[in-house]
Amino acid sequence: MAPRVIAILNQKGGVGKTTTTANLGAAAARLGRRVLACDLDPQANLTTHLTGDLRREGPSVYDVLRGDHPLADAVRETSVPGLSLVPSHLDLAGAEMELAAAVGREQLLRDALAGFLSGAEDGRRPELVLLDCPPSLGLLSLNALVAAGEVLVPLEPTFLALQGLAKLLEVVDLVRRRLNPGLRLGGIVACLVDARTTLTAEALAEVERHVPGKLLRTRIRRNVRLAEAPSHGRSILDYAPSSRGAEDYLALAREVLGGEGAPADA
Ligand SMILES: Nc1ncnc2c1ncn2[C@@H]1O[C@H](COP(=O)(O)OP(=O)(O)OP(=O)(O)O)[C@@H](O)[C@H]1O
Ligand SMILES: [Mg+2]
Repeated sequence: MAPRVIAILNQKGGVGKTTTTANLGAAAARLGRRVLACDLDPQANLTTHLTGDLRREGPSVYDVLRGDHPLADAVRETSVPGLSLVPSHLDLAGAEMELAAAVGREQLLRDALAGFLSGAEDGRRPELVLLDCPPSLGLLSLNALVAAGEVLVPLEPTFLALQGLAKLLEVVDLVRRRLNPGLRLGGIVACLVDARTTLTAEALAEVERHVPGKLLRTRIRRNVRLAEAPSHGRSILDYAPSSRGAEDYLALAREVLGGEGAPADA
């Protein structure tokens, strides 16, 4: 069966994209799914978070997009059993310009992923693929939107949050019409939530008004453990298993996977 491919996207910086990719991925793996996370950000925060390694050798997503390596060459195991990673590299910063003139430049990731999935043995093929996008709507994010079946938008509920959301939804719509008819908005997930403020409630009500029915039930609360885990190269489930952060990301994984039919140990 083809895996679910989810682009984790918001062009606003620092809203929880990478934290969500790492910990939703770890939580889904904990619930029995084989997960592949792909770091599409030249900052390589996801790569650091999941491997603890700043100077990784070997091919990265950059080499894959350039066509120098098949995606299978770049896949690495992480500190989390069941969660593998296609790492990023600082080199990726030049990719937007380098690839601008490439034929089919928006489809490079989709094609690389399709090649990987068709070549993988049944028991090793990922069931869930998460694409951690950079904070922009450039060629890298576009590649994610073309490769994905759905978009998950992490959003910090402040009164400015809606400003970027309209633009983001426009781009998703455009990609659906021109490049990827199967693309849908999977959901919006509130991250960095400070549950005590009325501002949070107002911002979330506003999101619900503008994009009805898309705000996921699970709230990712602000939790310092989530901010600490990356520097230890571990997911929140390993770093602080009884923290609110671990609880919230497990809840998010259950909600996102809900209805798929859970494997025995979930
Ligand atoms: N729920 C949370 N509680 C506390 N800190 C958090 C939470 N979520 C994310 N953070 C911290 O906030 C910062 C931004 O989060 P993150 O890197 O996930 O955002 P991002 O959207 O991927 O950023 P960028 O746009 O730069 O890629 C990080 O330092 C992260 O550790
Ligand atoms: Mg990030």
